[in-house]
Amino acid sequence: MRIGVLTGGGDCPGLNAVIRAVTKSLLRQCGAEVVGIEDGFAGLMASPPRTRALDWRSVSGILMLGGTILGTSNRANPLTSEAVTQTVLDNARVLGLDALVAIGGDGTMALAHGLAQRGLPVVGVPKTIDNDIVGCERSFGFDTAVATVTEALERIQTTGQSHGRVMIVETMGRHAGWIALEAGLAGAADVILLPELDYDVDAVAAVCREREQHQRFTVICVGEGAKPQGGALTVAHRVADSPDPMRLGGVGQVLCAQLQQRLHSEVRATVLGHVQRGGSPTAFDRVLATQFGNQAAQLVMAGQFNRMVTLQQGQLGSVALADVAHQQRTVPLDHPLLQAARQIGVCLGDSAPQ
Ligand code: F6P
Repeated sequence: MRIGVLTGGGDCPGLNAVIRAVTKSLLRQCGAEVVGIEDGFAGLMASPPRTRALDWRSVSGILMLGGTILGTSNRANPLTSEAVTQTVLDNARVLGLDALVAIGGDGTMALAHGLAQRGLPVVGVPKTIDNDIVGCERSFGFDTAVATVTEALERIQTTGQSHGRVMIVETMGRHAGWIALEAGLAGAADVILLPELDYDVDAVAAVCREREQHQRFTVICVGEGAKPQGGALTVAHRVADSPDPMRLGGVGQVLCAQLQQRLHSEVRATVLGHVQRGGSPTAFDRVLATQFGNQAAQLVMAGQFNRMVTLQQGQLGSVALADVAHQQRTVPLDHPLLQAARQIGVCLGDSAPQ
């Protein structure tokens, strides 16, 4: 067997751990030849395709490395035209690929699904710090991102306390508030604002004003996809040739200006940005990524294609790519963490009763 492996979309802690586990599992269990595709789908769209052999030596020592040794792209779209799709399919044939393992987020899964429909046997592995892939309760990379944001919130608190300021920390996560919610709770944020729950700026200001009288400072954790009631998403920029062109970012500054008009305290905003995607994966993410990589190899060996590895109720499994493509898993409004947050007095930006 000859199996291709690629990483697509944004980088994420744990990608190398998956590459390592897929490779080791396939080498050890069926003696397959494993071919790394460089720069995501871009490597398969190129003529000639850009590849490198993955063997015991090349995956040794990469478990703890951030990023991806294969490189990635969130612009390359193998479905952009019939000619491009045909190039990808021809390249897969020329390379002698029996299957392709595509490690990526919802965008990569949608592209993988499209190629699978055209006859390329594909197994997907869910990756994203956003934790927003349908059918998978925990994607690797998320735990590391939450740890990074939690540390940032702790550090920000020092300045808030010392200067009596309102400190806003903006997280990534796109349209899902998982990072802001879990890191906000772990980092003792007083206010957590999520994309799933439009915030009332007056309700947030009231909390800050109340705290001005007592604790003197407020820490706010806001997901980049959050928006004020009656307001719009804050878009940082658009990447024209990306399958998902809109890049969110900047709501922290918007909120900063809104609050400054209403408060005596100084208000400051910090956008954490790509810091959240960097660095070595946590032990949890290394283990999860290793399990996902091994599970992908099992699916390949069992001939179960056009499926994505999943974790549901703590169990590894798989779902049809068709069931996850073009969807996002956001925080349900009845999620127990939201209830717990309210019950301990965290403001979620609305005036709902505690
Ligand atoms: O999906 C992962 C993610 O980091 C999002 O949280 C963020 O909105 C986006 O990617 C940023 O993308 P880029 O690296 O293209 O700016």
